[in-house]
Amino acid sequence: MDFVKAANIDEFSDKNHKVIKLVGRLVGIIKRDDGSFFGIEVSCKHQGADLLTDYRGGMVAICPRHQWKYDLESGECLNHDSLPLRRYKTKIEGSDILVSLLPIEDEASSDYEPLF
Ligand code: FES
Repeated sequence: MDFVKAANIDEFSDKNHKVIKLVGRLVGIIKRDDGSFFGIEVSCKHQGADLLTDYRGGMVAICPRHQWKYDLESGECLNHDSLPLRRYKTKIEGSDILVSLLPIEDEASSDYEPLF
């Protein structure tokens, strides 16, 4: 799995998230209360709004446009039938936060090898 630098840990001294653009998608790097990090797609599955526009913390994001709610840890939409947000792996190297280039779900499916 390939990773790219998304942020420096120092950027989170006074905030709990950062949004980056990764392969054409908005990806949020979220700092949990315990200080660990995770990555999650933050384009709403309804019409693509940035889910972190009004985000103040916690594990639920509410879309500013039409209030679809998402569990940021699992990516599940909590109040509509919808595909889940894509999740990304993160890792720390020194003071850098790296994020996987591909979502966890796409990486798993890329292991597919045809039998013929
Ligand atoms: S764009 Fe997010 S709920 Fe409509």
